[in-house]
Amino acid sequence: MSKLPQVTTSIFSKMSLMAKEHDAINLSQGFPDFPIDKKLSLLVEKTVKNNVHQYCPSNGHPGLLDQIADLIHKSYHRELNTSEELLVTAGATQAIFTSIQALVHPGDEVIILDPSYDCYIAPIQLCKGVPIRIPLGPDFLPDWALINKHVSSKTKMIITNNPHNPSGRTWAASDMNELVRLINNNSNLYLLSDEVYEYITFENKHLSAHSYESLRAKSIVVSSFGKTLHITGWKMGYLVAEKKIMDEIKKIHQYMVFSVNSLCQHVIFEYLQSSSLQDIGSMYQAKRDLFRKGIEHSRFKILPCDGTYFQTLDYSKISNKNDVEFAEELTKDFGIASIPISVFSENNKHKNILRFCFAKQNETIEKATSLLCKI
Ligand SMILES: Cc1ncc(COP(=O)(O)O)c(C=O)c1O
Repeated sequence: MSKLPQVTTSIFSKMSLMAKEHDAINLSQGFPDFPIDKKLSLLVEKTVKNNVHQYCPSNGHPGLLDQIADLIHKSYHRELNTSEELLVTAGATQAIFTSIQALVHPGDEVIILDPSYDCYIAPIQLCKGVPIRIPLGPDFLPDWALINKHVSSKTKMIITNNPHNPSGRTWAASDMNELVRLINNNSNLYLLSDEVYEYITFENKHLSAHSYESLRAKSIVVSSFGKTLHITGWKMGYLVAEKKIMDEIKKIHQYMVFSVNSLCQHVIFEYLQSSSLQDIGSMYQAKRDLFRKGIEHSRFKILPCDGTYFQTLDYSKISNKNDVEFAEELTKDFGIASIPISVFSENNKHKNILRFCFAKQNETIEKATSLLCKI
């Protein structure tokens, strides 16, 4: 019998395949189509010739751990004990999987806010935990009254994702204060804070769990170099947790991967020493604005986008089809692939909305928006 009977081909693979079949512009899966920073590719060429090809320490290359600690200090004023509180992982996906395996016991409930990224449910089910899926409000921000109603002595963890995929919304200080209150009032509760888009925010600076003293002892904060450095295929990320939590996470990590790709760790270590991540937000903001300007006279309603590289569009004025059918129609008949956001929810409350990835070359964005204006 399958351990995960409900799991089928992911919507990302399905829409990317359909985009290929119909020669459509692929704004479905979230990955950049522009080259990586030249400095990074030169470092790959240089580093591959060095003695970097054997296992790194299980928690990560020591120099890289120091660089990440510096980055977290600069960004969020959090001081880390690098050998005890930081772990380099094979992308955020492994960080999330490992954390859930380490902390969730059979029967424990884990709160997930829908629509939610698709890598949370399966790891919970594999350790016989119970996912409790709570819809975000109509504006894709947390409905704290509803969340608080679902928290009980059985609740072991809440998984949050800010900046949020698929909506592109970011949390306000009032949301973070509610989160602090929730964690403070429930001593059994851990926070798994998925912040992979932390450096891709626009008008407002990202509010991280790292910055809140009282969240630190109860949280695992997850980051992704894939998103931050436009290298999704390298599958490089990291997580931060206080020692007691980290000791349990490391027990799983050592038998899952033991240690992460050494070449990539050495390259990122070198890269972070001489690079700033400050311009990432403005680079993507220009792409967001180009995308939004390009469709301002279309029949789509443009929803708010504060961060990430996803723009959601409401097509209620164009079609009565459900979002999966409409996304298929757009790919086959109009040559543009997107993601229907209902697939991120158990009971979809956010109707008639598609997600478009604008992490693309400007030329691709311009072609895509001119197609969207014809619909
Ligand atoms: C919200 C969210 N969390 C986690 C991940 C996984 O990140 P990684 O590719 O580093 O495993 C993604 C990737 O799309 C994501 O959007």
